[in-house]
Amino acid sequence: MTYNFPKEFAWGTATASYQIEGAVKQDGRGESIWDRFCQMPGHIVNGDTGDVANDHYNLYKEDVELMKGLGHNAYRFSVAWPRVMPSGRGEVNAAGLKFYSDLVDELLAAGIEPYLTIYHWDLPQALQDIGGWQNPDIVGYFADYCKVLYEALGGRVKKWITLNEPFCTAFLGYYSGMHAPGVNDLSSALLVSYHLMLAHGEAVRLFRKMLPDCEIGITLNYTPSYPVGGTPEDEMASRYQNGMGDRWFTDAAFKGGFPADMIGLYKERGLTLPDFADISKACEKLDFLGVNYYNSSGTRYSKESWPLYAEGVKPDAPVTDRGWPITPDALTNLLVYLHREYNVPKIYITENGASYNDVLDMDRKIDDYNRVDYLRRHIIAVNNAMGSGVDIRGYFIWSLYDNFEWAFGRYSRFGIIYHDFDTLERIPKRSAYWYRDVINNNGLD
Ligand code: GCO
Repeated sequence: MTYNFPKEFAWGTATASYQIEGAVKQDGRGESIWDRFCQMPGHIVNGDTGDVANDHYNLYKEDVELMKGLGHNAYRFSVAWPRVMPSGRGEVNAAGLKFYSDLVDELLAAGIEPYLTIYHWDLPQALQDIGGWQNPDIVGYFADYCKVLYEALGGRVKKWITLNEPFCTAFLGYYSGMHAPGVNDLSSALLVSYHLMLAHGEAVRLFRKMLPDCEIGITLNYTPSYPVGGTPEDEMASRYQNGMGDRWFTDAAFKGGFPADMIGLYKERGLTLPDFADISKACEKLDFLGVNYYNSSGTRYSKESWPLYAEGVKPDAPVTDRGWPITPDALTNLLVYLHREYNVPKIYITENGASYNDVLDMDRKIDDYNRVDYLRRHIIAVNNAMGSGVDIRGYFIWSLYDNFEWAFGRYSRFGIIYHDFDTLERIPKRSAYWYRDVINNNGLD
């Protein structure tokens, strides 16, 4: 069986500023919440930080050359707000802005289309000091930051993404505390989710005025939950599980409201909620939805479990070295569901990939057949969704190379290029060459 893709399909990889750039004190970059978070003991495996990471800030030309050599025609990256505006508002750092301008020029010269994510979690610490995403004024600060980027890069960059995974910003940053700024309070997370979605809407409105010929969307992460057990209680718990992550943000962006069943549940659980009075402003017409997908999950009802009555159950599937299940069929189902339920415009798969504990062999090569298999199954899953009528325009592997994997530091390798964190050497893995062939053939067998 052959799986073909349309002529203009975007093939590339995705990265995020704090995970790859390093150079945290170079050329006037301000402090981010991740710089601060990494310094506090116990937050990151082995006490790693993003201080150097892949040193992409200094080696970006080499990285673009690598992408070109591997046949990529698209690249998704994010801008570090504190590099462009060291205090988060007011003064613009010309050197920081120039870095992104040079990167964009380098990509365009290499025939690689830039997909720019405006916010991928590295908030300026100076904004955190005045409340961060809990402060309603952040909506205006974010719009001011967007304006700077639209002015400087608009036109050369035609594809824009407002936020990456607002779920993680809100719920890992403010509820589980696994991410910066490390808060543990569900009410705060819900307030943050509200401000994030208002900021998203504001950014889109400004975009339409300033860059009418370019396209904008949002990237949301999905871990679809399936009920395990089949009782009505299991179904309910699973619905709540999907409601906290997936439906909460998709409803806000595409339906202009947070799901009523979740608001009801949170109230019943005694949480203090904002009135969400302006949430309809989060729903602006988008040109595309970015879908980040790694795996599905299982859910069983549990009376004791707060607040969702939901207990996670690992699907009956093989797992990656990170322990994440390999569930490609659920990606097809998800894409078809998004298309039907939300009538979303075009979709890009803005992240999909697998973490394995790759080790160089004696020839300094990596034969990551496991990652090839994962990617192959998921690219086929995307193709299957397209066969069911879902309009999908591109696919981005997470990630270009192994990088600073948030709380897991260097421990979790997602790259199709191996990165030696000590020498900064980049070594394409077997999966990188395999992907090059997929792109050349615009499909696979
Ligand atoms: C994500 C992230 C990436 C992670 C990846 C693997 O958006 O979740 O964009 O930053 O590194 O998901 O955990």
